[in-house]
Amino acid sequence: MQKGAIKITKAATSKLASTDFNNLPFGKLFTDHMLIAEYKNGTWGDPEIVPYGPLSFDPSLISIHYGQSIFEGIKAFRMKDGSAAIFRPEENLKRFNKSAHRMAMPDVPAFHFIEGMKQLLTLEDKWIPDAYDHALYIRPFMFASDEVIGVAPSSKYLFMIILSPVGPYFSNPLKIYVEEQFVRAAPGGVGYAKTAGNYAASLYPARLAREKGFDQVLWMDATEHKYVQECGAMNVFFVMDGKVITPELSSGTILDGITRKSILHLAKSMGKTVEEREISIDELVEGYKKGTLTEAFGAGTAVTVSKIETLQYKDTQILMDAANMPVADLLKKTMTAMRDGTAPDPDGWMVKTNA
Ligand code: PLP
Ligand code: COI
Repeated sequence: MQKGAIKITKAATSKLASTDFNNLPFGKLFTDHMLIAEYKNGTWGDPEIVPYGPLSFDPSLISIHYGQSIFEGIKAFRMKDGSAAIFRPEENLKRFNKSAHRMAMPDVPAFHFIEGMKQLLTLEDKWIPDAYDHALYIRPFMFASDEVIGVAPSSKYLFMIILSPVGPYFSNPLKIYVEEQFVRAAPGGVGYAKTAGNYAASLYPARLAREKGFDQVLWMDATEHKYVQECGAMNVFFVMDGKVITPELSSGTILDGITRKSILHLAKSMGKTVEEREISIDELVEGYKKGTLTEAFGAGTAVTVSKIETLQYKDTQILMDAANMPVADLLKKTMTAMRDGTAPDPDGWMVKTNA
């Protein structure tokens, strides 16, 4: 990783004092500074930290037209000793560059992504909340910045990081609609990439589900509409016959979640049997009827561990007892304790900022 300080231009005023940390709607408030770097002529320029603010573009900005745009979601936490740490940012860098590759975009250097994030967080340290289930959400993103409307990979890109203090994404157990008509991703497509269009394509089905009273849809496989994939902003887990199970990733249609990966690791180290495999909706319905399906929950950076209380599949309602999900509770408790520095971090997942 290239060494060195990143040039900082400080904001003239701070929004910190006027921000109500007891009321943090997800992703609506941003800190005083952001990081920006430009790729052109086949190389990355130095990242810079500048006041948070609008960008100016020509209407032909290519990413608006064709969606050559990727992002990540990461959280920084306040530890009990007052320091701050980021949860597994190296994993996000790997995934970011996988997404970049699929979208014909350049790799972003580790210096820009990791060191840039650390220096930005160090400057914005006071923005990291210390309440339960609160964090500073880190949003690195890259988009094509050629101003031309021919369909081709852009020759220029901007990489940026913005920060948003956040509380819980969902405050109640989730009601999920099993989606059979629309699909999120097909084999050979871009499901595994964290690219803007995946989210755009999910909005209409998600709106229909919300109108029916559901929080999110559970996507099914594109071919048979039979195998469970993931939800809009989270991977899914089930506890069946005491085993922790989650859909496997080999079809390339599911986001390789860092929370998912962490949960699989933690569940194994707790002595649970874990399985990554195909899970059919029929198996879940049968497990529910037999009483062997005891827990369902989502896992993701924004949502952490969110229990699912209803799964609506055709006319069948799988009604789960969210108050009685010991595996989800233990996983959430363990992750929370690691993140606030009150539990050991044997695998070095928490990366300290420079503050
Ligand atoms: N699946 C989708 C579609 C997501 O948007 C997210 C959120 O990032 C996840 C899964 C969970 O991934 P992670 O745990 O890396 O945040
Ligand atoms: C995340 O969990 O970080 C996400 O990206 C989910 C969402 C807010 C799109």
